[in-house]
Amino acid sequence: MKPCRGAVAGAIVLLAVLQFLASPPARAEYGDVLINKRSEKEGMRPVVFPHWFHRIRFRCKVCHNELGFKMRAGGNDVLMVDIIEGKFCGMCHNGQIAWSPENCDLCHSGKPGLQTKIFGSHQTGGPGRW
Ligand code: HEC
Ligand code: HEC
Ligand code: HEC
Repeated sequence: MKPCRGAVAGAIVLLAVLQFLASPPARAEYGDVLINKRSEKEGMRPVVFPHWFHRIRFRCKVCHNELGFKMRAGGNDVLMVDIIEGKFCGMCHNGQIAWSPENCDLCHSGKPGLQTKIFGSHQTGGPGRW
């Protein structure tokens, strides 16, 4: 009986692994969001928001409920003054939870000319990489 039970357990593990591999990645979790609603019009490079990088550190609801970010690339009107006053990205990028808004280039790192949309994956995306 023993080897048989082992095989069944093995098959269950294998199934779980296959199921995990087969589940399609939710794009929003993996992609980077490029935001260029106002940046370039105001003379700045577009913003790269590495969604995956943040998603593994915080729960969805921190940003999508508590901070009020709508779940749509380009769905928010974010002004730099709001960020400096501690709203949106500035809730964390305040020099305490994360580095401060003075580091313009760390956020405004997108290639000029790119339109607002969700891009790539966490492996290909990221500041300065496209
Ligand atoms: C640190 C903040 C933060 C966290 C945590 C976060 N998001 Fe987001 N999410 C954003 C921002 C910012 C955008 C882009 C909004 C914009 O472009 O105005 C976004 C965009 C999205 C979009 C829209 C993508 C598209 O194709 O238009 C979806 C869907 C989404 N998030 C789902 C999630 C889910 C699900 C989680 C948790 C698993 C999560 N987010 C966690 C900040 C966050
Ligand atoms: C809920 C908190 C939170 C919010 C909201 C948030 N961030 Fe961050 N962000 C962090 C933390 C924490 C780090 C890591 C900081 C560090 O390494 O010192 C980070 C890092 C980053 C990085 C660097 C990623 C890397 O690969 O090193 C970028 C770029 C960034 N944030 C952009 C943004 C932008 C743009 C927004 C708003 C659209 C935003 N963040 C909103 C917490 C947040
Ligand atoms: C933590 C991320 C982050 C940092 C750091 C940051 N920005 Fe922004 N900024 C954003 C986001 C997100 C937007 C909204 C992008 C859009 O709509 O195109 C934005 C928009 C802007 C805009 C256009 C909207 C407006 O309010 O006029 C300007 C100009 C701007 N930023 C300048 C700056 C300058 C200058 C710095 C450095 C002193 C800076 N930003 C640092 C995230 C950041």
